[in-house]
Amino acid sequence: MADAPPAPPPADDKAGPSADDVVIRVTGLKNSFGAQVVHKDVNLEVRRGEILGVVGGSGTGKSVLMRSIIGLQTPDGGDIEVLGENVANLDDDAAKDLRRRWGVLFQNGALFSSLTVAENIEAPLREFFTLDQMLMDEIASYKIAMVGLPDIAGMKFPSELSGGMRKRAGLARALALDPELLFLDEPTAGLDPIGAAAFDELIKLMRDTVGLTVFLVTHDLDTLYAICDRVAVLGDGVMLKVGTIPELLEFDHPWVREYFSGPRGRAAAATDAIEPKATDADRDAARAIEAGGEGLTADAGVEERG
Ligand SMILES: Nc1ncnc2c1ncn2[C@@H]1O[C@H](COP(=O)(O)OP(=O)(O)OP(=O)(O)O)[C@@H](O)[C@H]1O
Ligand SMILES: [Mg+2]
Repeated sequence: MADAPPAPPPADDKAGPSADDVVIRVTGLKNSFGAQVVHKDVNLEVRRGEILGVVGGSGTGKSVLMRSIIGLQTPDGGDIEVLGENVANLDDDAAKDLRRRWGVLFQNGALFSSLTVAENIEAPLREFFTLDQMLMDEIASYKIAMVGLPDIAGMKFPSELSGGMRKRAGLARALALDPELLFLDEPTAGLDPIGAAAFDELIKLMRDTVGLTVFLVTHDLDTLYAICDRVAVLGDGVMLKVGTIPELLEFDHPWVREYFSGPRGRAAAATDAIEPKATDADRDAARAIEAGGEGLTADAGVEERG
């Protein structure tokens, strides 16, 4: 990216984040599959420490965008810069270094079904480090507590968990390497509203306590209202709009109007007045994170809300 022209400021943000604040910059992204054009010209900046929600109709290319950003999909055109590196120009070592700095929760969960939860969390540790088993077990058990799962969940296989527990286990694995950047694709899909609200609160807590930047693909209007700082709307192969929810409510586009001002959007806006509350266990986990893991007991967050 060294010789690339400076990215234009985002069209809908007059102040514009300074270069240091931008952890993901997508410029002119193009993706097609055969004759199907998914992305014509996608531009997006994600700022350090924000929770950015990405929405758009089914099939508009949200997951393909996420896969492009993390280097799993080679785009047909455009530039993608993550944490200051152009993902297209990296040799294997540099790509691995970059991968170590982010965590991913895929849309389908994608835990290894033949591994226990603890082994799933240890998988990225094994990929990047040579650690003795005891230390890896300790890290796994710390991450399990961090996401509010009981310690016993570590010994279970994904098939032995509820959907909500699987999401949390996936999050624990995404957090295994203490990432700066977290990619979540539909993390609350399939959760009951209370489980989803608890999951949202957990993500917000992680951002607030460890300063994560979160790229969050979702259909869940409640999530957008509860935790997203800005929302990016993908449609017609471009980013239709990036802004806060009040800005989006003012935005005159049929899909955006229908999405935010339809019955579900109005309901989400109404319940936003009732903030999802962090549980005592969540607060304990947050304090433990702030204290660098000190005092985190294995049963912090033992109640299962998924
Ligand atoms: N590897 C692939 N090969 C061919 N087509 C693909 C591939 N990956 C994605 N697509 C197509 O690209 C389009 C966008 O897919 P994507 O999964 O990004 O949608 P999405 O916005 O995440 O949808 P949803 O909200 O349903 O998850 C879809 O039409 C999909 O069929
Ligand atoms: Mg998707």
